[in-house]
Amino acid sequence: MRAGPNWEIFGGWWGISPAIIILIFPLGFRLTCYYYRKAYYRGFWASPPACAVAEPHKKYTGETRFPLILQNIHRYFFYAALLVAGILTYDTVLAFRDEHYAWGHMGLGTLVFLVNIVLIWAYTISCHSCRHIVGGKLKHFSKHPVRYRMWQWAGKLNARHAQLAWASLVSVALADFYVYLVASGAFDDPRFF
Ligand code: FES
Repeated sequence: MRAGPNWEIFGGWWGISPAIIILIFPLGFRLTCYYYRKAYYRGFWASPPACAVAEPHKKYTGETRFPLILQNIHRYFFYAALLVAGILTYDTVLAFRDEHYAWGHMGLGTLVFLVNIVLIWAYTISCHSCRHIVGGKLKHFSKHPVRYRMWQWAGKLNARHAQLAWASLVSVALADFYVYLVASGAFDDPRFF
C-alpha cells in the first residue's frame, strides 16, 4: 500500500494536530461572516439587540473601534476560504478512487464529499466580500459584462447566505464524522460501483 503524506512538520509544532492549525482559516471565516455576526451581535453583544431597539451601550460605535474593528479581516479570510475550498475539492476528486487507488469508483463517502463540497462552494461564493470583489467599485456594469454576470450569480446566492451558512456547517460536521467512522473501522464505505 502507498504511504500517506507525512505531516510531521505540522505535528511537530508543540504536538498540535494539523486539523487544529488549519481550523484557524475556516473558523475565522465563519466567525467574521456577516450573517454569523448579525446573529451573535443580537444574541450576545446587544449591539444592536434588534432593529430600532436602543442598545445598552452609551454610544454606538459599530465596527469602528477595537475589538469589533478586527471584523474587517473577513475579506482576507475569504481568500483563505477559497484555498480551503480548493483543497476540499481536490479531496473530493480523490474520493473517486477505490482502496487500490484505481479511478472511476464511487461510494457513499464520495456522495457525502460531493454534497459537502457543493455546499462549501455555495456558501463561500455567496459571501458578501465575494460579491463586492466581483462587482464592487465599478462605475459602469455595461463595460464589464463578465463581472456583471458573476456579480448577478453571487447576488442570487448571497440572498440565501444564511441558509447556506447553516447547511454547509452541518455538512462539514457530518462529512468529518463520516470520515472518522470509516477511518476508525466502524464500517466499510458502501461502494455504488
Ligand atoms: S459574509 Fe458570510 S462568509 Fe462572507
